[in-house]
Amino acid sequence: MALDYILSTLMKKTDWYKDAIIYQIYPRSFCDGNNDGLGDIPGIISKLDYLKELGVNCVWLSPVYDSPQEDNGYDISNYRDIYKPFGTLDDFKLMLSEMHKRGIRLIMDLVVNHTSSEHPWFKSAISDKNSPYRDYYIIKKGRKNGKKPPNNWSGFFAEDAWERIGDTEDYYLRLFTKGQPDLNWENPKVREEVKDILKYWLDMGVDGFRCDVITLISKDQRFKSVFPSLALRGKKYFVNGPRLHEYLHELYKDVYANYNCMTVGETVLSTLDQARLLVEPAREELSMIFNFDHTDVDNYFRVKWFYRKFKLKRLKKVVNKWQKGLYQKGWNSLFIENHDQRRCVGRFNTDDKEYREVSAKMLGATYFFLQGTPFIYQGQEIGITNGDFSSLDEYQDVETHNVYHMGEKLKILKPMLKKTLFSRSRDNARTPMQWDNSEFAGFSNVKPWIKVNKNKETINVQESLKQDDSVFHFYQKLISLRNDEVIKNGEYIDLLPRDKNLFCYKRKLGDKEFVVISNFSKKEIKLPKIKELEEYQLLLSNYDKGSTILKAFETRIYRNY
Ligand code: NOJ
Repeated sequence: MALDYILSTLMKKTDWYKDAIIYQIYPRSFCDGNNDGLGDIPGIISKLDYLKELGVNCVWLSPVYDSPQEDNGYDISNYRDIYKPFGTLDDFKLMLSEMHKRGIRLIMDLVVNHTSSEHPWFKSAISDKNSPYRDYYIIKKGRKNGKKPPNNWSGFFAEDAWERIGDTEDYYLRLFTKGQPDLNWENPKVREEVKDILKYWLDMGVDGFRCDVITLISKDQRFKSVFPSLALRGKKYFVNGPRLHEYLHELYKDVYANYNCMTVGETVLSTLDQARLLVEPAREELSMIFNFDHTDVDNYFRVKWFYRKFKLKRLKKVVNKWQKGLYQKGWNSLFIENHDQRRCVGRFNTDDKEYREVSAKMLGATYFFLQGTPFIYQGQEIGITNGDFSSLDEYQDVETHNVYHMGEKLKILKPMLKKTLFSRSRDNARTPMQWDNSEFAGFSNVKPWIKVNKNKETINVQESLKQDDSVFHFYQKLISLRNDEVIKNGEYIDLLPRDKNLFCYKRKLGDKEFVVISNFSKKEIKLPKIKELEEYQLLLSNYDKGSTILKAFETRIYRNY
């Protein structure tokens, strides 16, 4: 077993997550071990040496629990078992021990804002008014004798938030698909069930949880309608609800405090002030959160379908805000991709073939040395680009289809609708992992559940491992440089806050300074006259030689120690 893992476990080092480099696996798309077209746990086990070689020391596994897969596993029908096509509980245990053997920890996705409508609790709740599970969900009588839903809230996937139960007058709340009924956290029994689920996995040895849409668990019990709007009607009543902090502290006190585990909360629409309350260690709620301010810089009203041109200045502003705002108060998470976001290359810069590799490296270097724990989404480490789907039926994602139907209803012109939808769909990041250039990218021997990206011919792991200067090897270097007190605890200082093409920041701890400069444009730009860039030692760059000119998408890393 890897030494640092053993030591930190023996020493019960509870803040191990501050030294973690976390790799996210989206199991459907990572590796298909039994050639049925769908990724699975044996497939993951077969790639653990690859992860070790990359240098990560923790994996966040998107849901593998039993599920009808209406939302690719974010709809759970049994919290204590594995979705059969992904493998068995024994496969899971083997994966966990093989990870630990390699010094890799495992955090599971915890989806407890809602269950699947196939969960036995829900089936009982809707089929019997006197069921003990009826109050596990949010079930209310509709208005106008059941003809209209209890209020006018709408959910995250472009639909109303209430679903009528058969031809009764009652409705259940579901902020995602109709197959994802929201749990009623007001009911103490629900909270006890959640604690039991957490203990079940922690006792098995998992190291923590990524808590899905955790800021939605407390709803304002007045269930009031709001002034009509297009998206997320009612959000002020269901995001960051009145008992959120109480619930999270309860989980901490009754469960997390007894284990050497970490939690990272997915906190949709949270502000910095709200985030502080969630992660200030003394409050004992979460270890860290994912904020989405930086992924909202290229849209309007925080709605990804409302396209807005990317501007570096906006990105720097939000990075500054979070880096300074949480410094010594809480811990940041750092990410530029995940299974809900499109790929970063081409989003924050360009995916022109000519610049793809330098762009991927530049983005990697830019976020990696900020204060916090870096996450890498599968494929990001080789610079995979968005999927190349050409028609709606190639998309598998439920959100994509819902939004398309909503667009049709609103009579949005088809070419415009398709353009927005195709560039923003979550499926862009869900294409099969590109292991080699074979027909199905080495992901499987048979046609995968979702279309393989054509560029697997050139962008694939096999090729990346061969080339010394590949994106993969660049990420390896980034990872090796992270093990450093300055990067971990240093102050963050933006050296060029007003520059519209260059992102240049310093991390400082005592006399030690670490500097990153990145050119976010295609233009060649004169290296700014900054003493750090003239005097410090150049550690790493995505071009051969450092000169006084920064080339297209060039990035450089310097330090004085
Ligand atoms: C956030 C997850 O990341 C997303 O994939 C999912 O659809 C929703 N939560 C609902 O669980």
